[in-house]
Amino acid sequence: MSRIHEALKRAEQERALAGPVQLDTTSVLDRPTEAGEIIANAAALAGGVPTPGFSAEAVLTRSRTVSWNPDPKTMLFFSGEEHSPGKEQFRTLRSRLYQAREKQPLSKLMVTSALPKEGKSFTTANLGQVIVRQHGRRALLIDADLRNPQLHRVLGAEPGPGLSEYLQGLVDEYSILQRGSMDNLFLIPGGQIVANPAELLAGGRMKFLLNSLQSVFDWIIIDTPPAVPVADASMIANLVDGVLLVVRSNSTPIDAARRARNEFLERNVVGVVLNGVTPDVSPYVQYYYASYSPEARTGVKN
Ligand SMILES: Nc1ncnc2c1ncn2[C@@H]1O[C@H](COP(=O)(O)OP(=O)(O)OP(=O)(O)O)[C@@H](O)[C@H]1O
Ligand SMILES: [Mg+2]
Repeated sequence: MSRIHEALKRAEQERALAGPVQLDTTSVLDRPTEAGEIIANAAALAGGVPTPGFSAEAVLTRSRTVSWNPDPKTMLFFSGEEHSPGKEQFRTLRSRLYQAREKQPLSKLMVTSALPKEGKSFTTANLGQVIVRQHGRRALLIDADLRNPQLHRVLGAEPGPGLSEYLQGLVDEYSILQRGSMDNLFLIPGGQIVANPAELLAGGRMKFLLNSLQSVFDWIIIDTPPAVPVADASMIANLVDGVLLVVRSNSTPIDAARRARNEFLERNVVGVVLNGVTPDVSPYVQYYYASYSPEARTGVKN
């Protein structure tokens, strides 16, 4: 028997003794693990193999119903004011996206920005809300910011198990999908922070998940990390139909916004959200609001 053959045989016996590959999630967090080890495990588990009996429709009935406590400061549609300027802007964004969809296939959308704190999670959460306010529309929000998952906080949802556990093959599709008080709004939270998000996101399991769930939801909206410092958003851009770029008014440096735009030059950027615009910066918004809101008709000032 050749030495190579012997080595292969020995490896096979060792594998048989070790049993199925398992990843200890806490080890990913608590122990400085070598990148190569995690990547190797992720690759072994990220083949996009479905859970036996998996069906996208079953995901809906088997998703976890969780009590959500949305933050009314961030979730505009929980603030009680039906015609606030912010809500009107999200209604406009919704109709622009439906217009874009008439010209191209558009159901998997990622939200990103050049830098941190520009309003990606804010935009994702409010876009999801405004979509499901239309009768019969169903939306899924996915927190793919595996370095700093925050989307669950905005919704007041549970932090996990989430996408990171799923991508490592630790849990199945059913365990990560939450639904709360808004009937047609679903969430996959980020889950535990991992050391190798870009590799996990680029694996076959992410692609499999998105493609499987596509037929169940009108929109899948993916919250991502900022595009300039890390490669994660760029990985996700390969898996979606369109990119929504958030730029924070009076905050994002022009160079950073340009770099983010260049990063997605080859991708389908469907629009730019200028976030945090005050009415005095945008008199048109003020005019529109003053003319059409019920408050204006009754003379009550906003
Ligand atoms: N238009 C807005 N009006 C009021 N508050 C906002 C607005 N946009 C964002 N914020 C607030 O600014 C903060 C940062 O927003 P958000 O978390 O959405 O940014 P982010 O781009 O997702 O940040 P990160 O890169 O850290 O994930 C949050 O507290 C959010 O509630
Ligand atoms: Mg965020």
